[in-house]
Amino acid sequence: MKREKFLEILSWEHHDGLVIALRLEKGLENGTELWLLKDYLLDKWNHALKDHFQSEERYLIQPAQYYEPDSAPIQKMMQQHEVITKLVETILDKANKANIEKFIAALRQHIQFEEKELFPYLESLLEPELKDKIAQCLSIHYVKGDKGWDPEFWKT
Ligand SMILES: [Fe+2]
Ligand SMILES: [Fe+2]
Repeated sequence: MKREKFLEILSWEHHDGLVIALRLEKGLENGTELWLLKDYLLDKWNHALKDHFQSEERYLIQPAQYYEPDSAPIQKMMQQHEVITKLVETILDKANKANIEKFIAALRQHIQFEEKELFPYLESLLEPELKDKIAQCLSIHYVKGDKGWDPEFWKT
């Protein structure tokens, strides 16, 4: 199913997020040094994923709660954001294999939830004018998250 325009940019960023998860997974499989994976993960967190979470929190929560206070999918989104943010803090302190694996799994699960449940829910909940406003706000905030990286550890 095609994503509605107001969620298009967030969906592109989800694609980038899945690329980041896949690269980290490949790095773990091919024995890339953990400090290199940590460096990559933290860079992607600071320059793409964190901004993505903030965009969702700034531009999706208020509109959804206007129509549906205590919206369950929005609450689930916030809980998952919190879990992933805490995982990054843990990795900052201790970048072992288990913690990076947990991060990969949590990120994938979160993106899947938003694409399969949260976004279809918002598409049916919100009014067209509001969708247009959200699209306008989000277009300013698009971050291309999977651009070049050296070394390309996932290729070895
Ligand atoms: Fe999210
Ligand atoms: Fe998202």
